[in-house]
Amino acid sequence: MTATELGLPAVRGAAPRDPARPADPRLVDSFGRVATDLRISLTDRCNLRCSYCMPAEGLDWMPRAEQLTDDELIRLITIAVRDLGVHELRFTGGEPLLRRGLEHLIAAAAALEPRPDISLTTNGIGLARRAEALAAAGVNRLNVSMDTLRPDRFATITRRDRLADVLDGLAAARAAGLDPIKINTVLLRNVNDDEAVPLLRFALEHGYELRFIEQMPLDAQHGWERSEMVTAGEVMERLREGFTLTPDPAERGGAPAERWLVDGGPARVGVIASVTRPFCGACDRTRLTADGQIRSCLFARTETDLRALLRGGAADAEIAETWRHAMWGKLAGHGIDDPDFLQPDRPMSAIGG
Ligand code: 5AD
Ligand code: SF4
Repeated sequence: MTATELGLPAVRGAAPRDPARPADPRLVDSFGRVATDLRISLTDRCNLRCSYCMPAEGLDWMPRAEQLTDDELIRLITIAVRDLGVHELRFTGGEPLLRRGLEHLIAAAAALEPRPDISLTTNGIGLARRAEALAAAGVNRLNVSMDTLRPDRFATITRRDRLADVLDGLAAARAAGLDPIKINTVLLRNVNDDEAVPLLRFALEHGYELRFIEQMPLDAQHGWERSEMVTAGEVMERLREGFTLTPDPAERGGAPAERWLVDGGPARVGVIASVTRPFCGACDRTRLTADGQIRSCLFARTETDLRALLRGGAADAEIAETWRHAMWGKLAGHGIDDPDFLQPDRPMSAIGG
């Protein structure tokens, strides 16, 4: 007897449901986690060349025909929000501001019911011109990457002399009323690891929330070395040279950052110890790449092809069921410390932060 004869919804071609997976419409995995936060990479391209991310010459960018169109993206986002219980969307890249029509995509996402929370992770280049339109389209929150306050170091780290653009972008985001504005910083040994205190001072003065992220093995060049990484522990030591830090009593939830009150609060600083204190057990993410692949983890070694379903005429129910099946197969953790850890083939710039 077929599923249709049984009166079950006909889900043509979708992966069969693992009998152990509950009939839960949401994105649940076999460890009891539920993904409600969708990270959407809009392009693998970037106008910076951060040394911990990609080589100076850039990468072989994804051909346009392989990228999801705006309509395809909006369809997947709609399925995620309407059918899968996703309530947070974060647009990332590469550099998402390089995607033409970004404001249109954001406005479409903001029109969904229930209205998802919408955030953007950007390197800040071009943000000064766009901040107001982004806020008007529906961006609620913004993360801007900035690793240094020194123009010469910025040029060394990103291989582009654009620090002033990032600072202008931050100011424009503030003027556009975006709140909170977070700054993401990666400290690199003997490059900018003496800037923890000045960066936090800067953030406090301007009302930005600073977060330090441990460098992860996600660079295209596969040059990451654990011994070179500035650990969260070291970041804390550096910060304590200038500030008193006490644990933030606020609930952390699925947030990757451990938050600390600075000099008694209310200002805070975050430390994302992805490598030394992984937070995989509380992970609530699902990821969509610019070419329509689902990844249940930054470090996943498998992907699920939703673009083929979209372009093959699949119904929404089939796409939703395939997405649920992908999430059910999510592994417990990233395994960076396992002896057989292998870096994923896709670099960070093609997955999204
Ligand atoms: N490790 C940690 N953070 C990284 N980012 C990019 N590559 C890495 C890496 N290998 C950061 C960027 C940006 C965010 C999306 O992730 O600086 O702030
Ligand atoms: Fe671009 Fe972000 Fe990679 Fe830097 S880290 S090169 S800003 S994608």
